[in-house]
Amino acid sequence: MGKDIFELRSSVRKFSDDPVSDADIKKMLKAATLAPSGKNMQNWHFVIVKNKDKINELADIIAKKNKKLRDAVDDGDLKDNFKKYLKFGTFFKDAPVLVLFFAAPYPVTGRNIMEAAGSPKEEIEALMKAEPGIQNIAAAAENFMLKAAELGYGTCWMTSQNYAALEIKASLEADFDKSIFDLALITPLGVPAGEVSSPKRKALEEVTSWLK
Ligand SMILES: Cc1cc2nc3c(=O)[nH]c(=O)nc-3n(C[C@H](O)[C@H](O)[C@H](O)COP(=O)(O)O)c2cc1C
Repeated sequence: MGKDIFELRSSVRKFSDDPVSDADIKKMLKAATLAPSGKNMQNWHFVIVKNKDKINELADIIAKKNKKLRDAVDDGDLKDNFKKYLKFGTFFKDAPVLVLFFAAPYPVTGRNIMEAAGSPKEEIEALMKAEPGIQNIAAAAENFMLKAAELGYGTCWMTSQNYAALEIKASLEADFDKSIFDLALITPLGVPAGEVSSPKRKALEEVTSWLK
């Protein structure tokens, strides 16, 4: 039996130079927009970058912000540890395409009334921690990545570059309302170079409780 779609997707961090057609990118975007979203708000926006100079510029922005943050602190261990993560936020520069996922705010059901009712702070915090607006964009991103895998492409869900989220957004000459959309995640997109595999998962028993 062949692999099912969930086994086909793995985080890919090395890419060949093979191009990705616009027709295929549109199939992935279509899959993304078929994701469920609270109140069907579809509070997402996708930015596709194929220009290699622009992709490199974005990696530079992240590298510069990484250095700026390190230069601003004295703690050597903190600096070293942060520098180690730079490559996990910039390896996308080797991919032919970069896709950025933006999310607009989402009016969480119950928040207004809880605030008006004077509900305790921890109850409102518990409501907001589930972040339905972000759940929407995550569902869209997963659909995008599963469609990419089905079509033979590699992706990697990335958030570790988000300490430069504002600089990244400001550098994009894209036509969308930057005043309401925030960067949620990015993914490189391309044909994987070499074999791909995923790390082991926890056992089902460890992550599941069946109520009696
Ligand atoms: C919310 C989120 C953020 C992630 N951020 C990064 C990242 O910034 N850089 C990276 O290389 N991988 C990142 N990953 C990929 C995870 O490391 C990867 O999904 C996990 O190790 C499981 O491996 P798999 O995707 O191959 O199954 C992220 C994944 C998720 C879901």
